[in-house]
Amino acid sequence: MAIILGIESSCDETSASVCIDGVIASNIIANQTIHHQYGGVVPELASRVHQQNIIPAVHQAIVEAKINKNQIDAVAFTRGPGLLGSLLVGTSFAKAFALANEIPLVEINHMQAHILAHFIPNQMEDKKLPQFPFICLTVSGGHTQIVLVKDYFEMEILGETTDDAAGEAFDKTAKILELPYPGGPLIDQYAKTGNPHAYQFPEPQIPGLNFSFSGLKTSILYFIRDNVKQNPNFVQENLADICASVQYRIVSILLNKLKKAAQEQQIKDIAIAGGVSANSGLRTALTGLAQQKGWNVFIPKFEYCTDNAAMIAIAGYYKFLKKDFVGQEIAPLARMPF
Ligand code: KG4
Ligand code: ZN
Repeated sequence: MAIILGIESSCDETSASVCIDGVIASNIIANQTIHHQYGGVVPELASRVHQQNIIPAVHQAIVEAKINKNQIDAVAFTRGPGLLGSLLVGTSFAKAFALANEIPLVEINHMQAHILAHFIPNQMEDKKLPQFPFICLTVSGGHTQIVLVKDYFEMEILGETTDDAAGEAFDKTAKILELPYPGGPLIDQYAKTGNPHAYQFPEPQIPGLNFSFSGLKTSILYFIRDNVKQNPNFVQENLADICASVQYRIVSILLNKLKKAAQEQQIKDIAIAGGVSANSGLRTALTGLAQQKGWNVFIPKFEYCTDNAAMIAIAGYYKFLKKDFVGQEIAPLARMPF
């Protein structure tokens, strides 16, 4: 039997999870609402709140998993990428916990963990898992990547954003529309009743499998500014249509590159991961595309899309099986390649 404690603190969620033999027994997520009033995550505040939340989150994860802390075999933590001050809290906690309990320490790359969330069991109705090699579109607040997943920890980035991430495109649009942070889920909500073809936003022509979202952001900004000049209530009167049209464009940019990657690699097992994979427009469009193309698609459960420690714990479990441990000298990395 292997019991792994997972710790996630890379951005603004403090999370702890217990994984028992590859099954998630608890996944506690403490959200930080303090950032909402600032319209984005304030790094200095985030690390302070992590510091307050981490011990209660771990305690609750252990209680909910109905285990004793002495039964834990290893502690896995997010080493990067992320906000350095936030990562330091989780890393320091994990190191101290490992030292005090004389158990191994496992470092996890946050972006790989988003992908490995697919190996948390019972997410698909037919209990299918993606088969290596598969392609994963990882879309979060800080990253947008198309990844060729050859094995649990053998991954190659085929394409990524050259500027903003897809989540940023959602969040920055929300800011322009004066919606609170984080805007992605709200745009998703308003888009449900809007017409996705009401307004046309440009699709950038970026070669290969890379993405760019900064041009789209600028065109949305000018579009809103020009229309508000004509009608000060333009946004309020057309919010659903604006959100639906923006979402439609972001989703089409993502899926067109995904189609290209699948075609080039001749791969039919296609997954999505990261916070933006919670987007209902993306989920529906991907499911439709999969039927057309004969793909097997893997879409994580909502709770495993945005940041969570269950994905860290499951990734930690697979590293534990390989005895892939790190020492007490380990330090977090704001940027962390695969
Ligand atoms: O993976 P994640 O929780 O944190 C990072 O690692 O960045 O992703 C957060 C991002 C935010 O930009 C948020 O607006 C976006 O995911 N997001 C969504 C939705 N839910 C979260 N974007 C669009 N639609 C959603 N339903
Ligand atoms: Zn994330």
